Amino acid sequence: MRKPIIAGNWKMNVLPGQAVELVRRLWADISGYDAVEVVVCPPCVDLPAVSEFMRSGDIRIGLGAQNMHWKESGAFTGEVSPTMLLDLGATHVIIGHSERRQLFGETDQGVNRKVKSALSFGLVPIMCVGETLKQREAGETEGIITGQVNCGLFELGPEEVPTVVVAYEPIWAIGTGKAATAGDAQEVTGMIRSVLSGQFGQQAAESVRIQYGGSVKPDNVSEIMSMPDIDGALVGGASLEADVFARIVKFS
Ligand code: PGA
Repeated sequence: MRKPIIAGNWKMNVLPGQAVELVRRLWADISGYDAVEVVVCPPCVDLPAVSEFMRSGDIRIGLGAQNMHWKESGAFTGEVSPTMLLDLGATHVIIGHSERRQLFGETDQGVNRKVKSALSFGLVPIMCVGETLKQREAGETEGIITGQVNCGLFELGPEEVPTVVVAYEPIWAIGTGKAATAGDAQEVTGMIRSVLSGQFGQQAAESVRIQYGGSVKPDNVSEIMSMPDIDGALVGGASLEADVFARIVKFS
């Protein structure tokens, strides 16, 4: 049985004090509700304040970073390492978000290095994949997503794969208010699971949690979550308001 995982991606939006306030309000709404694993991913500089607030208030929400370098240390100006994230209290890390791929030149090879590194340091990678509108319209979705999944998880063992969370985020649905239909999202997440099954075996594939992301809102989350191969959501804009995000978390 896969426990649903709903993560909020706050992108480059909240200062540390605002992040703490968001967590405080969110926890007020969802404490005691444990049908879903909840993760928030604030900007990196917010992590110390948020993790200290969670620790002191016994707040059981996962804490994710939005990116990391794959190396533990070294001459990588401007980068943050997995051990630094762990030290700041992170439990999860988003890897290969389409904004990182499109705006910062991240490649499938880099994503693969980061996924392997996160796993080796005990961080849960949330690996994002997704096609552009042009690729979808050209009928390339299956090929693109298969390539991203195969490359991103290259050389992982079947025993490591169940820890990875895969987020299917069609790029045309991110921040546009135009979510994929539940049926379209199921078609791709189902395909992702068969790719995983081909590469790692059915047992491993059945335990991987696959999220859908892209304009998830309180009014579309239950239909999306009712799909057999969708085990969670990666939520951007709608995770920035505690009461809205809480409604998404309590979708059922
Ligand atoms: P959105 O973003 O929910 O604002 O569409 C999703 C994401 O980028 O992860």
